[in-house]
Amino acid sequence: MTTHTRNATVMVTGASGRTGSRVVQAVRAAGLDVREATRSRGFDWEDPATWADALRGADAAYLMYPTDVGSPAAAEGVGALAREAVGLGLRRLVLLSARGEDQALPTEEALASSGADWTVVRAAWFAQNFSEGPLADGLREDGRLVFPAGEVAEPFIDVRDIAEVVAAVLTAGDRYTGRTLEVTGPRLLSFRQAVAEVSGATGAELEYVPVPARAYGEHLTGFGVPREEAQLLVEVFETLLDGRNAHLTDGVRQVLGREPRDFADFAREAAAAGAWKG
Ligand SMILES: NC(=O)c1ccc[n+]([C@@H]2O[C@H](COP(=O)([O-])OP(=O)(O)OC[C@H]3O[C@@H](n4cnc5c(N)ncnc54)[C@H](OP(=O)(O)O)[C@@H]3O)[C@@H](O)[C@H]2O)c1
Repeated sequence: MTTHTRNATVMVTGASGRTGSRVVQAVRAAGLDVREATRSRGFDWEDPATWADALRGADAAYLMYPTDVGSPAAAEGVGALAREAVGLGLRRLVLLSARGEDQALPTEEALASSGADWTVVRAAWFAQNFSEGPLADGLREDGRLVFPAGEVAEPFIDVRDIAEVVAAVLTAGDRYTGRTLEVTGPRLLSFRQAVAEVSGATGAELEYVPVPARAYGEHLTGFGVPREEAQLLVEVFETLLDGRNAHLTDGVRQVLGREPRDFADFAREAAAAGAWKG
């Protein structure tokens, strides 16, 4: 007689987004089953009545809170969902957080005090901010990246490395339970240098335009971002881009046993895939 053992199932929030879509791939590649938790599949962070169906029967979850992990709504939502998950027997939770973001600490604490077997993955700025989402739209549409980062250096991380770290954490038993992992790319680059690397990879003339954080907030509201959300992002950018994160960590090497992907490789591959074609 053959005994069939069930694969563990991971509920992946934000499965249609930058990190979540790669977490889906990495978790499947690690031999686990995935339950995608997005609004089109009935899961809504803003509607707690939708959570139990997404959580029930899963063994672990990847939690990303939309827009920003440092919002008050994130602390409330992550804490409440984590408590509900634990109540349903789903204890293994991995939260995507942001490195150096003081505003994210209440969200991390809400997870840690939920009774879950938690791991926090604090990530540097994503390389994919340059190829997917609003910053990428600016580069594609008018060849400019308008952003309040001055000349600060950042170790941009490829979201595929974040996803592989999450999958490794979920398949490593208790090794990373109760731990906060800081993950960065392998090299410090200013936003100006990053845009120059994208420019080199695409052959297009692209420009970085640094602006003050407050002016950027007005730029966001001009594009329809609600004022409260723009205000939070301005506060986050003002703290995150003050140089506190201008150093590397070895989180990716610690967990994956290899160096993180370099920004130049990301830019070359994304250019080849047409990421900046209009
Ligand atoms: N960008 C960075 O450099 C950086 C660095 C460190 C940490 N972070 C953190 O990363 C998180 C964002 O992750 P990401 O970039 O992977 O996301 P993203 O690409 O912005 O995607 C957002 C995802 O959230 C889902 N979503 C939006 N509203 C939802 C709702 N009400 N209920 C359920 N799902 C909802 C969307 O799915 P549907 O629309 O299909 O429902 C989508 O899959 C934030 O918490 C941010 O603080 C970002």
